[in-house]
Amino acid sequence: MTDLRSVTILIPGKLHGHSVARIRDTFNLVELDRIDPALIGEELKASVRGVAASPAIGGGMIDRAFMSALPGLEIVANFGVGYDGVDARWAGEHGVVVTNTPDVLTEEVADTAVGLLINTVRELTKAEAWLRDGRWKRDGNYPLTPLTLRDRKVGIFGMGRIGLAIAKRLEAFGLPIAYHNRRQVEGLDYAYHDTLEGLASAVDTLVSVAPGTPATAKAVNAKVLSALGPDGVFVNIGRGSTVDEAALAAALSDGTIAAAGLDVFADEPNVPQALLDAPNTVLLPHVGSASEYTRRAMADLVVDNLIAWFGKGKPLTPVAETASVPARHTD
Ligand code: DGY
Repeated sequence: MTDLRSVTILIPGKLHGHSVARIRDTFNLVELDRIDPALIGEELKASVRGVAASPAIGGGMIDRAFMSALPGLEIVANFGVGYDGVDARWAGEHGVVVTNTPDVLTEEVADTAVGLLINTVRELTKAEAWLRDGRWKRDGNYPLTPLTLRDRKVGIFGMGRIGLAIAKRLEAFGLPIAYHNRRQVEGLDYAYHDTLEGLASAVDTLVSVAPGTPATAKAVNAKVLSALGPDGVFVNIGRGSTVDEAALAAALSDGTIAAAGLDVFADEPNVPQALLDAPNTVLLPHVGSASEYTRRAMADLVVDNLIAWFGKGKPLTPVAETASVPARHTD
C-alpha cells in the first residue's frame, strides 16, 4: 500500500481551501505562487507526482511546458468540469492522467443558467436597481419588459450532463427544446441539428454549455447570431472562448439579436468594454458553480481523485483524453 504521506502533490496558484487542507492532511503538500515552471526548483522537479490546480478559475495554464518540467508526474487533478486550462491531450499522450469534477456541479450550473436566462429576458437586475434608486416612488412602475420567456424556443449548444439538466428545467417551464452537439445523443427526444447555425435558425433562445476546445473556438459567430434573429436571446454558461465576442457586441448593438446573458468570457476577468456598455446584457463574473455547497463538493472530488489514484491505482473521474492511461499502482 502506497504511503500517501510520502507522495508529493504540487498546488500551483490558488485552489479551494478545502482541497488544500485535505491535501495537506493526506499527502506531502508543496505550494507555488502561480502556475509557472520557472518557479519549480530542481529538487521539487524530481519529487512531484501529482498536481492539483484550478486554472479555469484561478488563471494560468497547465500546459506541456509545465507538465514536462515534472518528470515524475502521474496525475493532474483539475478543479472544475471544464479542463481547457490543462493540455489533456499532451497529458494522455505522455501517460499522465487528468481528472475533472463532473456531476457534483451539474444542478448548480443548470440552476444558474436558468436564473441568468430569466434575468436576461425579464430585466430583474435593472428592475431592482429601479427600486433601490427610488424610481418606483418617483417615476412609478418599472416599464414592461419587451422580452419574455413565454413562447420561446430553446436551443442548447452542448448536450452533455449540464445541457441536459438545463433542458429538463426549461422543458418544465413549457418550452420546446432542440440541441446541437458533436453527435446526436442516443435516446434523447429533443430535435437534433447537426450544425450550430441550423439550430440557431430553428430557435430564438440559444444557451451555450459548450466546452472550450479548438473545435468550439468562436463557434458562436456573426452567422450564428444572425440566424438567431432579432428576438434572439443568447446565454453563455460554458466557456467564453466559444464566442466571437466582437461579433456578439456588434449583434447586440445593431439589433441582430435582442439580448445576452453571459457568465463566462474569453479573457477572464477582463470583460470587453463593448459588452459592459451594451444595455441589453446581463453579465456575471463566472459564478455558474460558485456556491459554498457546490465548490466544497468539487474540492472534495479533486482530492478523492488523488487518493483513488495513489491509493488504488484508478482515478474516479478521468477525462476522455486520458481515460486509457494505465493504472500504475495496484498494491
Ligand atoms: C467549471 O467547472 O468548469 C466551471 O466553469 C467552474 O465553475
